[in-house]
Amino acid sequence: MGHIWRCAHLLLYCCLLLSTTGVQGSGYLKYKDPKQPLNTRIDDLLSRMSLAEKIGQMAQIERSIATPDVIKNNYIGSVLSGGGSWPAPQATVQEWASMVTEMQKAALSTPLGIPMIYGIDAVHGHGNVYKATIFPHNVGLGATRDPELAKKIGAAVALEVRATGIPYIFAPCVAVCRDPRWGRCYESFSEDPKVVQMMTQIIPGFQGEAPPSSRGRPYVAGTRNVAACAKHYVGDGGTNKGINENNTIIDFHGLLQIHMPPYYNAVINSVSTIMVSYTSWNGVKMHANHFLVTDFLKNKLKFRGFVISDWQGLDRITSPAGSDYHLSIKLGVLAGIDMIMIPFNYTDFIGNLTSLVHDNTIPMSRIDDAVRRILRVKFTMGLFENPFPDPSLAGELGKQEHRDLAREAVRKSLVLLKNGKYGEKPLLPLPKKCGKILVAGSHADNLGNQCGGWTITWQGLQGNNLTAGTTILEGIKSTVDGSAQVVYSEEPSPDFVQKGGFNYAIVVVGEPPYSETQGDNLNLTIPAPGPSVIETVCSNVKCIVVLISGRPLVIEPYINKIDAFVAAWLPGTEGKGVADVLFGDYGFTGKLSRTWFKSVDQLPMNVGDPHYDPLFPFGFGLETHPSY
Ligand code: BGC
Ligand code: BGC
Repeated sequence: MGHIWRCAHLLLYCCLLLSTTGVQGSGYLKYKDPKQPLNTRIDDLLSRMSLAEKIGQMAQIERSIATPDVIKNNYIGSVLSGGGSWPAPQATVQEWASMVTEMQKAALSTPLGIPMIYGIDAVHGHGNVYKATIFPHNVGLGATRDPELAKKIGAAVALEVRATGIPYIFAPCVAVCRDPRWGRCYESFSEDPKVVQMMTQIIPGFQGEAPPSSRGRPYVAGTRNVAACAKHYVGDGGTNKGINENNTIIDFHGLLQIHMPPYYNAVINSVSTIMVSYTSWNGVKMHANHFLVTDFLKNKLKFRGFVISDWQGLDRITSPAGSDYHLSIKLGVLAGIDMIMIPFNYTDFIGNLTSLVHDNTIPMSRIDDAVRRILRVKFTMGLFENPFPDPSLAGELGKQEHRDLAREAVRKSLVLLKNGKYGEKPLLPLPKKCGKILVAGSHADNLGNQCGGWTITWQGLQGNNLTAGTTILEGIKSTVDGSAQVVYSEEPSPDFVQKGGFNYAIVVVGEPPYSETQGDNLNLTIPAPGPSVIETVCSNVKCIVVLISGRPLVIEPYINKIDAFVAAWLPGTEGKGVADVLFGDYGFTGKLSRTWFKSVDQLPMNVGDPHYDPLFPFGFGLETHPSY
């Protein structure tokens, strides 16, 4: 019986292969034949394409406007989900996959049947998706100094993304954040380019490890992996005062030393795509920088994948944004951008680009270069052979193994900055038989706060109803001994703290969720009522302060009152990882991936600077031993 089934399956498979590859009879199309060499396929397909089809390949539009007709009539090459753009609130894996399927059917119904590539930001797990595993944001991963862990996380994220039928992600962010006032600092692994370089191992995790023959060229191992995107090229983390999308003032040597190195690793590790930064380098918009995009990235570094713009990145070449879209397109495409994240006004884009080609402002060779690169990625990742979601991967989303991995990442990302007051013995790890303890603060029982931005929505959400996960409080409760009493009060009064008879207190405070410009912050103080909760609790009980934040915050005024201080960054959905280490199931091992400044007027201040006077230096982190 099993044998007959296998034969039947094989037969069905062969028929499918024949019909999708067009290998049979007179309908043979070279580009559809996976046995043909890559360049033969690209050349064959390109030779059949009209200008409209080529420009369609270069267009990426937003999910919300990507109806089958729009895709079909404009030969759209790519669709994206912006932050928080889902097919339905709390959409299931099946809803995501059927959305992608509908769009893909439309793309395949065009005469040449070129599959569209769907992309999404998966910057700390499949963040937009309900019940996905949310991993620590990059700043925390940098603190682990563990490239193997980054690689495993990449592989897990790839599976979760594929579970929803999506083959392409806008990650990793390889910014080297040089100023924590920047609202995207948490998307950066470190202020030190070497740490960022090391963590680019997440790329072979996402895409699969390229065999030696493919190294340095776009590579995706198969349908359990995704095409990655190193972003934002280049200098995004170096802007003046950390202002988002602003100007990075640095000479070429400095650019090469600080901001460029991660791209060397990304390219050699076969990253499929690279996204251009909104920022300017010495006053020139990166989206219009021919030297850095074409001469340097494509010609010198020999990057063979496609270069994608950022969201309305061409519009923002002019100021105000969009004021001369014709000029924007001309400058952006001539600079060397291949795919344009339009993402809404595709008619304007198509109309303008068509006329720019017709009047020879943009040579056909430039269009062909763009389309070749896009097709190269689509062919190498197997999108022509496997354009549709694989329903057998549905169970990958948020699965226990991935949550365990995220919990491990949380443990390893925690940085212990103080452990016991001067002259006293270490406070951590706490005993599990801890008697009565107080847990306080706005971030102790708040899943949204511990996940941060790019979670379910673009800016992130507060509270416990956004998705599935474990708060830090829940983690503590499930870790302590049965004899212990855990009392939770978000903002306890002095009286409550004094009369409570607590042996210890754990105060969890920090920043609310934010992303991009909304996160820019010139004072970097702990938002109220965090400081007063620290005061109230730590003046009365032996206390551990756990800070949830995308970056170091001003802590010096309180540090003497605090008995133990832990930087937990933005840990994600697996809050148990915090209790694992506080209560000694594991030791603290994390090391600062950033300099902990004393006051904001020191900024920018990074490791290696001539005037370096931090509260805690880059690389600092106390260790403890597991006690069980
Ligand atoms: C961000 C990118 C992101 C894109 C799509 C932009 O605003 O800068 O990092 O990939 O939006 O969501
Ligand atoms: C989108 C994000 C995008 C941002 C750019 C938002 O509306 O949801 O994906 O990064 O705009 O400004």
